[in-house]
Amino acid sequence: MKPVPLKSRPRRLRRLSGLRDMTRETRLSPSQFIAPLFVMHGARVRRPIASMPGQFQLSVDELLREAAIIQGLGIPAVLLFAIPKRKDAAGSEAWAPGGIVQQATRALKKKFPGLVVITDLCFCEYTTHGHCGVLKGGVVDNDATLRLIARTAVAQAKAGADLVAPSGMMDGTVKTIRAALDRARFIDTGILAYAAKYASVFYGPFRDVAGSAPRFGDRRGYQMDPPNAREALREIKTDVAEGADIVMVKPALAYLDVIAAARKAVDVPICAYNVSGEYAMVKAAEKLAWLDGASESRAALEVLTAIKRAGADLIITYHAIEAARRLRRAGA
Ligand code: PBG
Repeated sequence: MKPVPLKSRPRRLRRLSGLRDMTRETRLSPSQFIAPLFVMHGARVRRPIASMPGQFQLSVDELLREAAIIQGLGIPAVLLFAIPKRKDAAGSEAWAPGGIVQQATRALKKKFPGLVVITDLCFCEYTTHGHCGVLKGGVVDNDATLRLIARTAVAQAKAGADLVAPSGMMDGTVKTIRAALDRARFIDTGILAYAAKYASVFYGPFRDVAGSAPRFGDRRGYQMDPPNAREALREIKTDVAEGADIVMVKPALAYLDVIAAARKAVDVPICAYNVSGEYAMVKAAEKLAWLDGASESRAALEVLTAIKRAGADLIITYHAIEAARRLRRAGA
């Protein structure tokens, strides 16, 4: 049969794995991953998390083991979340020198000085009511919370955090932290700002792990309304102007358009948070064998590639270890 005359035959470049490899536009590397870890008091604790298979609540000794694996795989950074011993109305373990995140940070930086330690800075894990700041008349008091944010940022920097990551969505957070860190002479401690964080259903598993679900109401009074994209750019530009070193969009999968717009709008690195519910969806579907993929982690790589393709420079993901292992096996 005579060939149909076509100007373009894109299939030519899909024919061989070598051709696909050399024309691939987006590549994943473990060097862009940040591994979130949940740290708690005690010793030899490695408690599995039902809704997040492969994730654990870890005591500091176990955290150090996990960090060795993470570093060995070429993942440069961890993000620490607290499971405190005691909660109170203000969330005072957040800034206590003996607070679990401060203890974990000191231990990590002592054993792995080159590991980038990022500390989540919020109060919902630490407060009895589960909201992200101090309450006044049943709502989170923005400016009173800023004072506690400043204290906590300095406590985390003192413990050795390389980047503090405020996730409470209080107005003026970045400006407040930068001023407090500079005043305390921590000029080299950076800020990874949860700039566009949406009031999302995809935080469900995380809240089970961290015991941080609000006891009443929800977070829609401070986290962003999911339909809004222009507002995300306003938040992101504000945080950059206030001194954020890296800005984040969270969640990732349902907000790829926001990631792409953020990439165009500012020149600082863009981080995307592939959150707990996104992880749980993939794990649940894999368990039910509802996805195409005899081999595990292909879904994770496709998801991470999409986030990268949208414009994220860095990805916080619970898939970090398995994805890094798979990339290593693939020789990437
Ligand atoms: C704390 C915080 C949350 C997450 C990160 N920091 C939960 C929330 O806002 O309720 C969610 C992370 C995840 O789902 O993986 N404010």
